[in-house]
Amino acid sequence: MERTTRKRLTQCGTRFALTVVAALGGMLFVGCGDSTPLDSGGESSSSTPPAPPLPGTQMPQSEQRPGDPAKGYEALITKGYVSCGVPYSVYKLAFGEAPEWLRLAGRTGKNETLPYYYTAFTTPTGVDVVAPNCLVCHGATFKQSVVVGLGQHASDYTGDPSTQAEAVGALLTDPAEKLEWRKWADRVKALAPFIQMPTRGPTPADSIAAVLIAHRDQATLAWSKEPLLGLPPAHVIPVDVPPWWRMSKKNAMFYTAAGQGDHARIMMSASTLCTDSVEEAEAIDAYFPDVRAYLYSLTPPPYEGEIVQEKVVKGEALFGENCARCHGVYGAEASYPNLLIAMEDVGTDKWLATGAAQYAEEYVTWFNGSFYGQLGTLKPLPGYMAPPLDGIWMTAPYLHNGAVPNLWSLLHSPSRPDRWQRSFDDGDFDETFVGWRFLSLEPAEVEGASPSERQRIYDTTVMGYGNGGHVYGDALSDEERWALIEYLKTL
Ligand code: HEC
Ligand code: HEC
Repeated sequence: MERTTRKRLTQCGTRFALTVVAALGGMLFVGCGDSTPLDSGGESSSSTPPAPPLPGTQMPQSEQRPGDPAKGYEALITKGYVSCGVPYSVYKLAFGEAPEWLRLAGRTGKNETLPYYYTAFTTPTGVDVVAPNCLVCHGATFKQSVVVGLGQHASDYTGDPSTQAEAVGALLTDPAEKLEWRKWADRVKALAPFIQMPTRGPTPADSIAAVLIAHRDQATLAWSKEPLLGLPPAHVIPVDVPPWWRMSKKNAMFYTAAGQGDHARIMMSASTLCTDSVEEAEAIDAYFPDVRAYLYSLTPPPYEGEIVQEKVVKGEALFGENCARCHGVYGAEASYPNLLIAMEDVGTDKWLATGAAQYAEEYVTWFNGSFYGQLGTLKPLPGYMAPPLDGIWMTAPYLHNGAVPNLWSLLHSPSRPDRWQRSFDDGDFDETFVGWRFLSLEPAEVEGASPSERQRIYDTTVMGYGNGGHVYGDALSDEERWALIEYLKTL
C-alpha cells in the first residue's frame, strides 16, 4: 500500500506539467456583474387553488442534437480535440508508461500505455503529440480504479506551469516537433499568471476559459499573442468539477445554469486551447453530439459499503419533506425540477455566481457572438442550480467550490471546518461522515505552513472559498441527519 501510494503521487506530480498546461477551459463563465432579479416562479393566475410556489427559477429544456454514445466515448478518449500538445517523443522520454491501474481498457497504439487523462494524436503538421483530454478534470480514480465522469478533486494548480513547459522544449531537436511544442508552450505561458491557486483540489476552469477567449478573434477564432480583451483578475475563483452523470437530468449546464441551448456546442468549447480556426472547430463539432450522448448515458457507481435499510426508509421521508422540492425525487417516481436557486436563498459563496472576474461580461458577449454561440448560449444568472444528487456519496468535497469535506457537515453547517487539510489519497474515503477525511486546522497553523503543506489546506476565509450557506439540514436532529445520509448513499 505504502508503495502504490507513493507511485501514485509521483504520477500525479508528473501529470502536473501537462495538465495545468493544457487544461483547456472548463468553460464556465462567471455571472454578470449587475444581477438580473430571479422570479420566484410558480405564480398561478386565478381561481383554482394556487400551486405551492417553486423555490427557484425553472430552467427550460432545449433540444439537443442526437448522437451515438459508443462513438462518443471513442472520440472522447482518442480524438485530438485539444489540437496541440507535447511531442510524444519527449513525453515518452520523461514519463514512460503509466501503471496499469491508470490506463483505460480498450485503447490501442500509443494511447494504450498512456494514463486515462492523456490522449496521443497526430497534428496536421504530422507530429505525434500528447495532450490532456476532458478526463483530466472529468475523470478520477477512486480506491485505485478509474471512474469516467467523476470530477477530479485532486487537481494541482499550485505551481507555475510555464517553467516546466519551457524545460520540455530544451529536450527537443526536430524542427517540426519544436514548432508544435512552441505553440503549446505559448498557450501555457499566456495562461500561467491567471490560473495559479493556493490549494490543490478545485480548478481555475473559469479563468482558463477567460484567458483563452481574451486571446482569440471572435469571428475567425485565430489566436492573438496579445490579448484582444481584458484579462481576468489574478485571484482565481475555485470551481469544483461536477460529475458528468448529472447531465442527463439537467436542462442547463454549469453551477449557475449559464449553459443553455445546444450542450454539445458549449462543451466542445472546453477544447479551445489550440483550436485556432472555425474550420477546425467545425471538425470537432461534427462528433461532439456523440460525446454529449455518451455523457448523458452515464450513471453513478452504486455505494460500495454497508447500507442500513431501516434508516434509509426514515431518511427518504425526511428527504421528501426537506430536500425534494429543490433536488427532486429519486427511485421509481423520479422527477427533477431543474431549479436555479437565488443567491439570497442558498447563501453559499457568491463569487462564482455574481461575477468574480471583472471582465466576465465581455467574455460572455464574445462567446455568444462566436462560433460557439451559434447553437449554445451563455446566460449566467445570480444563483446556483440545486443539482441532481445521484451518486452524491462519491463526489466530495461539496458545493460548487468544494468547500465542505463531507455530507455530515454539509447538512450541519456549524460542524464545517474553516480551515482543513486532506490527504490526496483516493482511498481515504470516510464512510461514516461520507466524504474525505480531513484535519481541522487553527489559523496559526495555516500561517505557519510550509509551501508544500499550504497546497493541502483549504482555507474558507479566502475570497471565493467560503463554506457558508445551504443551511437546510441544520434544523434536523442528529438521528434524522444520520438517516438522511443513509438515504443519500442510495442515490
Ligand atoms: C480544467 C478542468 C476541465 C476540463 C479540462 C474540462 N472541464 Fe468540463 N467542467 C469543469 C468544471 C470546473 C465545470 C463546472 C463549471 C461550472 O459549472 O461553473 C465543468 C462543467 C462541465 C459540464 C457541465 C456539468 C454540469 O453539471 O453542469 C460539462 C457537460 C462538461 N464540463 C464537459 C466537458 C467536456 C466535454 C470537456 C472536454 C472537451 C471538459 N468538460 C473539459 C472542468 C473542466
Ligand atoms: C431551496 C433549495 C434547496 C433545498 C431545500 C435543499 N438544497 Fe441542497 N442545494 C441547493 C443548491 C442551490 C445547491 C448548490 C449550492 C452550491 O453549489 O453553492 C445545493 C447543494 C447540495 C449538495 C451538494 C451538491 C454538490 O455536488 O456539492 C447536497 C449534498 C445537497 N444540496 C443536499 C441537500 C439535502 C440533503 C437537503 C435537505 C436537507 C437539501 N440539499 C435542501 C438547494 C437546496
